Amino acid sequence: MIDDQDIRACLQRRLTTKFVGRNLFYYRQLATTMETAKELVKKGAAEGTVVIAGKQTAGKGRIGRTWLSPEGSLAMSVILKPPLENLPQLVMIASLAVVRAIKQVAGLETQIKWPNDVMIKGKKVCGILIENEVEGGRVNFAVIGIGVNVNFQPPDFPEIADIATSLSHEVGAEISQVELTSILLLELERLYLEAQAGAAVHREWQENMETLGKLIKVDTGKTVEQGKAETVTAKGNLLLRRDDGSLVEIVAGDVTLIKD
Ligand code: BTN
Repeated sequence: MIDDQDIRACLQRRLTTKFVGRNLFYYRQLATTMETAKELVKKGAAEGTVVIAGKQTAGKGRIGRTWLSPEGSLAMSVILKPPLENLPQLVMIASLAVVRAIKQVAGLETQIKWPNDVMIKGKKVCGILIENEVEGGRVNFAVIGIGVNVNFQPPDFPEIADIATSLSHEVGAEISQVELTSILLLELERLYLEAQAGAAVHREWQENMETLGKLIKVDTGKTVEQGKAETVTAKGNLLLRRDDGSLVEIVAGDVTLIKD
């Protein structure tokens, strides 16, 4: 049986990144990679440190939801320490890295559902959760949590059967976790460095977004806005044209499609 150290070594051999994943922790099972990553930050973990779990028993989703991570899913947290001005771009960088990696490894086209879901034909294949600590105008850390449904069959899990898909379900064959992870980390590092050099990552993000041009409802937790999703700003905020013609800028929320 291959052990955790073998999986870790195999992944690191495949990595061609400069710093992302150079410090890598692999666990067969964790409660959530987010908490483990934050514990590592407190102990001084370097930027680029990655935590991966073969499965999670208490996977965290956005807005207090749980995230199902059975065996066969990719559950990963990446520790970054960006300048404050690049913090809003992390969600765009992460979802674009996922879009690129899935295309390269599984040959599948995906769409981004604002703000941070990656979809295949209307079903969710990846969720992204970002947690950070900012103090005195400085980012102490950001942890990007990425969960991809890779090699399991969502129809076997009633709680997500209607809303989720997986790469193996779409392709009809197993996908290499090692290849997907190493390419995802490479794309993530590339986009992260490009963003810090001033690249407009929101342009490629926009091109891959299914939400734009659609009539949607956005629940921000405080208000519910309805209108046409017009565009996104350089920070990744959504500009929504209300029915009365006014434009509202939304930082985060839950999107429901009203019609195409
Ligand atoms: C969402 O769509 O609600 C976000 C889901 C984020 C899931 C990932 S899996 C790796 C990391 N660890 C967690 O517990 N959550 C994130």
